[in-house]
Amino acid sequence: MGDHGHGHQHGHRHGHGHRHGHGHEHGHDPDALPELLELDAEVLHEYRDALLDQVQDLTGGAPRRILDLGCGNGTGTLALAGRFPGAELIAVDVSPDMLHRLREKAARAGVADRVRTVQADLDEGWPDVAGVDLVWASASMHHVADPDRVLADVFAAIRPGGLLAVAEVASHPRFLPDSFGGGVEARVHAALAARQAAEMPHRGEDWGPRLRKAGFAVESARHVTIDLTAPLPSATGRYARAVLARMRSGLHDEISAADHATLQTLLDGDGPENLLRRDNLTVHAERSAWLCRRP
Ligand SMILES: C[S@@+](CC[C@H](N)C(=O)[O-])C[C@H]1O[C@@H](n2cnc3c(N)ncnc32)[C@H](O)[C@@H]1O
Repeated sequence: MGDHGHGHQHGHRHGHGHRHGHGHEHGHDPDALPELLELDAEVLHEYRDALLDQVQDLTGGAPRRILDLGCGNGTGTLALAGRFPGAELIAVDVSPDMLHRLREKAARAGVADRVRTVQADLDEGWPDVAGVDLVWASASMHHVADPDRVLADVFAAIRPGGLLAVAEVASHPRFLPDSFGGGVEARVHAALAARQAAEMPHRGEDWGPRLRKAGFAVESARHVTIDLTAPLPSATGRYARAVLARMRSGLHDEISAADHATLQTLLDGDGPENLLRRDNLTVHAERSAWLCRRP
């Protein structure tokens, strides 16, 4: 979720000793990614709830300290705070803006006293966080430049017996009939996949071997296909719009002028084709999750 265009991940692989622009949406609407993350959590809430159920089962008790790694604006942090009312939450992200939004949300939800934000770039090193019972890393691990180093640091920060949940986007969500616009959605996805393969080489990979290499015992590895049909959650049109707008923002010459025009109709058109007004959307999404334990 959230990686539908370019933006903060752009420039990831460029050179060494980088101070890259994670979390900065240069030239983009600063509300776009936070809004997309909210809509993703809302529309795919059944998937996320089921995953949290599984996490709750495996924790086998009440975790006291929970770390949300690459927390964004905190859809996961807040869900975890709700599930585990006795826990202290530590929310780590490189983006001060995301953390600010998260703190506001925590205050509105009445859990600010249990939520601590820590601004840190995981590529630069591990923040001062230890003794954790549960780590939740949703759509964040594929951003880091050296996952093996970060996973070793996660391992060290978790108490023996503690749990790590890695949730990743296996493929960006799709909303339109295959034939729409002569297959425009598939072309947009293919163009973006080619670009992301270069910018974020760890995206879409099997995290099992890396997790074992770091010392974790993988207790569950699941690939989930989500197909939603009518009646869809009321936020679906806005979610589709947010996803495709972000995808478009990352693509220029990679798709044809005709495809750009079709996207324009979907995103900004006055007619019934506009994603906010269409009545024939579906949601197809693929997610993967690994739940593992520090022995
Ligand atoms: C796709 S968002 C996911 C946010 C949240 N976990 C969720 O599921 O809604 C990825 C997050 O990882 C953060 N991130 C990316 N690279 C990072 C790094 N090197 N260190 C810390 N956070 C990073 C981004 O700022 C962003 O908030």
